[in-house]
Amino acid sequence: MKVLFSPLALPQQGTIVFLVTQDTPLPTLAQKLDDQTQGALTRSMGVEQFTGKKNTLVNLVAPTHTELDRVILLGVESSSELDIQQSADTLIKHVETFNLTDIHVISETDTQAAHFAYGVQLSHYRFDKYRTRTELQAKCVLENLTVGCDDPKAAQELYQPLEAVAEGVKVTRDLIWEPANVVYPESFAQFCVCLKEHDLEVEVVNSKQMSELGMTSLLGVGQGSQHESLMVILKYTGAKESDEPIAFLGKGVTFDSGGLSLKPNTSMNTMKEDMGGAATVTGLMVALAKRQAKVNAIGVLGLVENMPSDKAQRPSDVVTSMSGQTIEVMNTDAEGRLVLCDLMTYTQRTFKPKAMFDLATLTGAVLVALGEEIAGIFSNNDELAEKITAAGEAEQEPVWRLPLGGQFDRLLKSEIADMRNDGNKPRIGGSSVAGQFLARFIENDTPWVHIDIAGTAWTGEGLPNKPKGATGYGVRLLDRMVKDQFETK
Ligand code: BES
Ligand code: MG
Ligand code: ZN
Repeated sequence: MKVLFSPLALPQQGTIVFLVTQDTPLPTLAQKLDDQTQGALTRSMGVEQFTGKKNTLVNLVAPTHTELDRVILLGVESSSELDIQQSADTLIKHVETFNLTDIHVISETDTQAAHFAYGVQLSHYRFDKYRTRTELQAKCVLENLTVGCDDPKAAQELYQPLEAVAEGVKVTRDLIWEPANVVYPESFAQFCVCLKEHDLEVEVVNSKQMSELGMTSLLGVGQGSQHESLMVILKYTGAKESDEPIAFLGKGVTFDSGGLSLKPNTSMNTMKEDMGGAATVTGLMVALAKRQAKVNAIGVLGLVENMPSDKAQRPSDVVTSMSGQTIEVMNTDAEGRLVLCDLMTYTQRTFKPKAMFDLATLTGAVLVALGEEIAGIFSNNDELAEKITAAGEAEQEPVWRLPLGGQFDRLLKSEIADMRNDGNKPRIGGSSVAGQFLARFIENDTPWVHIDIAGTAWTGEGLPNKPKGATGYGVRLLDRMVKDQFETK
């Protein structure tokens, strides 16, 4: 889709969309068109009882005394950035029924114009690549979006970083939608190598190298798979070389069968999404690089496939993590933490980050506790937890802090090793036990937040600016946090 910002003017043909804020008079150009059509706009609004509320619109077809195809009055409720973005969602739901390929939106201000275009980018998304029958494909897609506003140049400037974030979100969604026979560790890493063109340095660490580093816990998870386990490092330098980086770690289990602790089919058939953490980190790094954020950031992806086979690790195997701590693998389906703990040790020792965030579809329990719209966070640092909570509110990607502590730590006790990987009381405090396991790998009080996105990575019904399926949740959240808290101004 092409986006163009243009000076305010009434087009003579095609489809015009006016953004109408609740309980305020019609925008000036809409007023003008209303006069030209002898009151057709106001009459339609009356008939439809349209007041500019969220999720509502009025659709006028071929209004008299014009050569226009359609005039759409779109309710945006308030003029907040989020409301403007979300109003785009309502319009995009009608792309097929209204046959919209080219639209001209009339916006009041440059901010409104930029955020509307951003909302369209986020909402106008489908993963159609494997549909070969035309009746299953989108009947029509929006090709040209023109947004008229008072200062098109200013709108374009505001839009540039938003477009970068939208692109990051798309990268994340595409990676999660792809099935596990297409996205596996080697192909995911190959995709990352191609990101070099975006001002990102990319390094792929293979299994042999990881073995030399002592990352036995991570390697154990992938040992039953025909695919080699890989670690990918994405590096973005947007500040002084000497500035300590922020690190983002991603769980990249490209398919989680559960391993020998095999999942039942109904839980297994969604497990291509278990690389959601790694996909989110990848999308975030693309967003930061594309908008040239003034920060140093490191993305570290642990790419493995969790499969049963004669080579797979067995429940009760003991592995030594890179940190030196030993782990009794009592449940091969609690594999995410086994991947993350080695990434944490590697990252802290190699990059000495000033803050470390990990993203993971880690526990089914977080979905039970917080549902599909809120991610669970766990932290050793109140200030960082507050910062990310604020970012979540600003971007409508909310997080909720869940507890760590001694009561969860005790559940990690093993008969034979330093800890076991699951809790010794099944289902009790599942998300906190997983968080507590990770907390054992923090060195020198590195400020850290663990974000459990098992509930938010995918949406069954769709959410505002998040069409059904892979949401891309987390890219906006972390981009905002970087922007508000870590960038040198
Ligand atoms: N990948 C799953 C968690 C998950 C569940 C992600 C639902 C997305 C949706 C994870 O590896 C897992 O299997 N966790 C177990 C841990 C348990 C065995 C301690 C779980 O949550 O049941
Ligand atoms: Mg699992
Ligand atoms: Zn998993």
